[in-house]
Amino acid sequence: MKVHLSTMGTISVMSIIVIFSYFYYFNKRLAVTLTRSYYGERSTNFSLDTVIWTAHPSSRLGNKMGEYAVLYALAKINGHKAYVLPQMHNELGKIFKISLPVIPQKVADSINWRRYTIKDWMSPEYFNISGQYVKLFGSPCSWTFYHHIRDEILQEFTFHDSIKNEANSYLERLRRHKVNVTYIGVHVRRGDYVSVMPKERKGVVADKNYLQKAMDYFRQKYDNPLFVVTSNGMDWCKKNIKNSLGDVYFVGDGKEGSPARDFALLAHCNHTIMTIGTFGYWAAYLVGGETIYLTNFTLPDSPYLKIFKYEAAFLPEWIGIPADLSPVIGKQGGAL
Ligand SMILES: *[C@@H]1O[C@H](CO)[C@@H](O)[C@H](O)[C@H]1NC(C)=O
Ligand SMILES: *[C@@H]1O[C@H](CO)[C@@H](O)[C@H](O)[C@H]1NC(C)=O
Ligand SMILES: *[C@@H]1O[C@H](CO)[C@@H](O)[C@H](O)[C@H]1NC(C)=O
Ligand SMILES: *[C@@H]1O[C@H](CO)[C@@H](O)[C@H](O)[C@H]1NC(C)=O
Ligand SMILES: *[C@@H]1O[C@H](CO)[C@@H](O)[C@H](O)[C@H]1NC(C)=O
Repeated sequence: MKVHLSTMGTISVMSIIVIFSYFYYFNKRLAVTLTRSYYGERSTNFSLDTVIWTAHPSSRLGNKMGEYAVLYALAKINGHKAYVLPQMHNELGKIFKISLPVIPQKVADSINWRRYTIKDWMSPEYFNISGQYVKLFGSPCSWTFYHHIRDEILQEFTFHDSIKNEANSYLERLRRHKVNVTYIGVHVRRGDYVSVMPKERKGVVADKNYLQKAMDYFRQKYDNPLFVVTSNGMDWCKKNIKNSLGDVYFVGDGKEGSPARDFALLAHCNHTIMTIGTFGYWAAYLVGGETIYLTNFTLPDSPYLKIFKYEAAFLPEWIGIPADLSPVIGKQGGAL
């Protein structure tokens, strides 16, 4: 059915009414169609009689991935169905083929949720969380919740084909004439952490020596290593990462607002060097190759260690290089 605007001149009051009703109907139909295609077919059978679990989404990609994975795993362990809020779906669904259905915001707003705060690693009480409408709070970064269903988590975080293809062809172009290259994704987290770590956590971010050691490990192990560096502090990286061998590529755009491209590049490499933060953690987890991480990056009396355990955050087979804490030890007036 088409409305021919050219006939508008001869339109009677009656046909205006017909057209308006048509538009009213059409718009309603359109809204339903958009909602369906946007939320996916799974959310069309939404019933408040069931048990509904969801998770409060936080702001950043890596944190959201953690919240999603924890929700997925804990709901499964407890035998309940998990749903995501539109805000979580918006960001994660743009990048990955996630499968959890979406709760329309209106429905979510009408529910009296049980707020349930998750600490930073798996704990026995999480095997038996009660409540019909449960909303998980907290942003753990720990494999302990979901590593037993790693394959399912990887399935959830499968990239959309266009993003995957773009990342792969980008990596392919970096290689140029070299054959049999090994891609090592390097994520250098800077930004706010540069001041948060020493000020609030009695800790440090990765320094130049850490990155040098980590890269040399891969240089010794592989014939043609190719380092793919992404960072939200690229200027620092260019100044501090030595590229005399010509095997380092500073490729990320560092845009914190649209992290998909940088994340996809890291996730399509063969191995990972991470520094700190959930973005690098998730890239390493998805890659599943060898991972080098910065460890012991806070003083032993850091308040951060109450909510963060190295062994709960990093997989046992990952390789930790301890941080040089001298910058914060100095600030403490020679303590230690
Ligand atoms: C929705 O419910 C109908 C009827 O119970 C069922 O046939 C259909 O498969 C359901 N759709 C989904 C996506 O679960
Ligand atoms: C689970 O928790 C409920 C109450 O919250 C309790 O009655 C029940 O015994 C617990 N089950 C297990 C297996 O711990
Ligand atoms: C490719 O590189 C890997 C790792 O450096 C090495 O084990 C393998 O023998 C190489 N293959 C060829 C064909 O050079
Ligand atoms: C390394 O990564 C590239 C790019 O994703 C991929 O084409 C290649 O198969 C990977 N190599 C190995 C040994 O997994
Ligand atoms: C980190 O510190 C702990 C406690 O001081 C120590 O036992 C551990 O060996 C350190 N880890 C590494 C990789 O050096």
